[in-house]
Amino acid sequence: MKTITVKDKQFAVSITEADIKNEIRRVATEIERDFQGKEPLFLPVLNGSFVFAADLLREISLPCEVSFIKLASYMGTQTTGQIREVIGLATDITDRHVIIVEDIIDSGLTMAHMIETLEKHNPASISVCTLLLKPDSLRVQVPIDYCCMKIPNDFIVGYGLDYDGFGRNTRDIYTLI
Ligand code: IMP
Ligand code: MG
Repeated sequence: MKTITVKDKQFAVSITEADIKNEIRRVATEIERDFQGKEPLFLPVLNGSFVFAADLLREISLPCEVSFIKLASYMGTQTTGQIREVIGLATDITDRHVIIVEDIIDSGLTMAHMIETLEKHNPASISVCTLLLKPDSLRVQVPIDYCCMKIPNDFIVGYGLDYDGFGRNTRDIYTLI
């Protein structure tokens, strides 16, 4: 089994690059179908979703824009439950079809906060697209329109996701062992 060490912890490969790519293509097709004739504004949430967003956007041929927002709620491997907004909205989203792009939805608190913040700017619609979802970890209800993969309630790194800032630069996704 392929393992990596990130700082003081060991991780084993759990989702391969090929599987990630397939699921992204599937979701990209769904988005293209649902947004035909529209010009959506993709809003990836930094830092974690930068790799996913880059791959997803290159599978989508709709006319679209991309703008980034940065939020953080994690310290080490534990969610803090407190969300800090680091970089705010840089683009006017009024009357726009906004698609939030997230790396992972865990407790759902980050996404709930994000949706609440964006709604104040009167977009035409808000959709949520996440690479990963931990269904057993959800603490609040969030509408999830597009989800590449559901995973168990374990801590993962890679493909943009980090452990204490490290481990983002892998092609596969790894689970803590
Ligand atoms: P939530 O607010 O609990 O849903 O947390 C969402 C955010 O926590 C994500 O955008 C990630 O940045 C981070 N996160 C949640 N689970 C993991 C994980 O297993 N590994 C790395 N980061 C995670
Ligand atoms: Mg994130």
